[in-house]
Amino acid sequence: MTSQHPLRVGIAGCGYQGNELARAVARIDELRLVACADPDLAAASRAAAMAPDASTHPSVEALLGESEVDAILIATPHHVLAPAALAAVRAGKHVMAEKPIALNAREAAEIEAAVAEAGVCYMAGYSFRYSMAKHVHDLIAAGAAGEIQAITGAIGFAPLAKEGWTAFPESGGGPLLYVGSHLVDMFLWFLGDDAVEVYADVRRRADTGADDTSAFQVRFARGAVAQGLVTQAAASFFYTLDIQGRDGRVFLRGANFLQYEIEVASRALTAYAQPCVIRPLVGPDNVTTMLVPELKAFAQAIREGQPAPITAHDGRRVLQVLDAVVQSGRERCPVLIRDERASALVG
Ligand SMILES: NC(=O)c1ccc[n+]([C@@H]2O[C@H](COP(=O)([O-])OP(=O)(O)OC[C@H]3O[C@@H](n4cnc5c(N)ncnc54)[C@H](O)[C@@H]3O)[C@@H](O)[C@H]2O)c1
Repeated sequence: MTSQHPLRVGIAGCGYQGNELARAVARIDELRLVACADPDLAAASRAAAMAPDASTHPSVEALLGESEVDAILIATPHHVLAPAALAAVRAGKHVMAEKPIALNAREAAEIEAAVAEAGVCYMAGYSFRYSMAKHVHDLIAAGAAGEIQAITGAIGFAPLAKEGWTAFPESGGGPLLYVGSHLVDMFLWFLGDDAVEVYADVRRRADTGADDTSAFQVRFARGAVAQGLVTQAAASFFYTLDIQGRDGRVFLRGANFLQYEIEVASRALTAYAQPCVIRPLVGPDNVTTMLVPELKAFAQAIREGQPAPITAHDGRRVLQVLDAVVQSGRERCPVLIRDERASALVG
């Protein structure tokens, strides 16, 4: 790896997360930031300033046409994630796109097909999998909970502003896509199973129309059930995840990306025969803790010609559940999850 040239990286969308990603790239020898795209050129310049000679561009298309990149990191508003990814993939670039990767499962299926056709590496940016969720996943993989029967999870933050892309459903605003996607990704990852049915209650904000507070239940193919609560009516950012298995319980509770604790009680693992609380040693900041390992995994997959650890298919499965949450909330009845591509083949 060290004898190879660093991969040339462009960033599309240079707001909060685009800057975090630029910081992470600057700490990784295998990657070099060479171009930044944002219609707000001052934002593009701020991210570009983190590299010695990165160019700035007003759009993803301009970046693709005017610079030489191997890979693009996409951190745009949600309604731009899919079109930006499609443009990059069809130009033969590897892509790491932020969650929720698209507005819905239909858009995600289009990305999945384009990635398969172009033969590039595409990674869905579910960064929790490189930090708090990884600790929980490791415990589950070690058998701490045994066969999981139920998961109860909640995630939320303080009310979103009434303006800007995060406010409105048309641009993918609201907490279901913003953080509910992380919660559903963890359900799917921990259970390693397919969601088959969703029942939801979705309350919307009168001023913006975005989801305010959603409560939902997901039934999985092997019988486990997951319940989720996603809200923008909290005092501040929080998340909890309570995993009940036949052999034990794993409970994650966090107030931000760095401060979290995991309570474990297990009949299967003697180390946790008595309930105990783990406070993992985390790095100095979110960039070191989550984004550096995430981008290193992306770079490694590209170098080795392997699929990314979190694929477009994984991103689509999350969106299938979230689409079903929205539909069930609207229709006030349970919604069955069907694989559109499989049903297209059948029907
Ligand atoms: N993984 C995480 O922990 C994490 C944390 C925060 C945000 N995110 C994700 O990052 C993405 C961006 O969120 P954010 O909070 O940084 O938003 P933001 O509003 O701070 O930044 C978005 C940027 O995209 C730019 N933009 C708008 N249209 C564009 C276009 N057509 N092409 C290129 N750039 C465009 C905007 O000018 C803005 O600078 C979202 O998908 C969000 O869910 C992930």
